[in-house]
Amino acid sequence: MKKITVAIDGFSSCGKSTIAKSLARQTGYIYVDTGAMYRAVALFAMENGWMTDNYIDTAQLQKHLSQIQISFKTNESGIQETYLNGKNVEQEIRSLKVANGASRISALGFVRQELVKQQQLMGIGKGIVMDGRDIGTVVFPRADLKIFVTARPEVRALRRMKELQAKGENPTFEQVLANVRERDLRDTTRTESPLKQAEDAILIDNSNMTIDEQQKLVLNLFNQKEING
Ligand code: DC
Repeated sequence: MKKITVAIDGFSSCGKSTIAKSLARQTGYIYVDTGAMYRAVALFAMENGWMTDNYIDTAQLQKHLSQIQISFKTNESGIQETYLNGKNVEQEIRSLKVANGASRISALGFVRQELVKQQQLMGIGKGIVMDGRDIGTVVFPRADLKIFVTARPEVRALRRMKELQAKGENPTFEQVLANVRERDLRDTTRTESPLKQAEDAILIDNSNMTIDEQQKLVLNLFNQKEING
C-alpha cells in the first residue's frame, strides 16, 4: 500500500496531537508535532535573553536561528519527546509561559520559513502524520488527507487546565480561557500563515466526542485514503 501524508491542523488545545499521535501509532507512521518546534524556538530565545514579555530581539534570533537543532526521540514508555540542541526540553516547552512565547514567535516570517523548510524535509518520504496550524495550507498543500480539528473554547480551556494541573501549574479557569482566546485571535489574525481551514480539509468538531470516537473516525478516513490512493 502506498504511504500517504496526513495533515492535522486546528486551534490550540483541541486534541490535535492526541488524534495525530494515535493515528501515527496505529499506522506505524512518523509523527511530527510542529507546535513543539515553535515552542523550542521560543524557549531558545527566552534562554538567551532575546525574548521578554513585550519584546523580541529579532535581529539576534535571526542571526542565531541556524544554530537551533530540533529533534524528536521516543522514550522507554513510547512517548515522543522534544530535544533542543541535544537537550530534552519536553517539560519546559509545555509551560504556559513558553506557549505564549511560541504564539508570538510563530508570527515571525523568518522563523516560519525555516521551520516549514525543516518540516517539508521530514515529509519527503511520506508516511507521516504532522500536526500544527498551517500543515494543510502551507507545509503540505497537497497532503492526501487533511483534517481540521476544532472544539468550543470553554471545552478546550477545561482540557488545557487539566493538563496544566497535572504538571503542577494552578491557573484559574478564567486565566486559561483568556489564554485560549488570546492565542486563537493571534493564530487566526497574524499576517504570516494565519490558522485557517484548507478548502479540502475535513472538519471535526470534537466538543462532544470521546477520544475513542474521534480516533475511530480518523482511522476510517485514513483507511479510505490509503486504500483508494
Ligand atoms: O500546538 P501548540 O500549542 O504546541 O503550538 C504552539 C504555538 O505555535 C501556537 O501558538 C501556534 C504556533 N504554531 C504555528 O503557528 N504553526 C504550527 N504549524 C504549529 C504551531
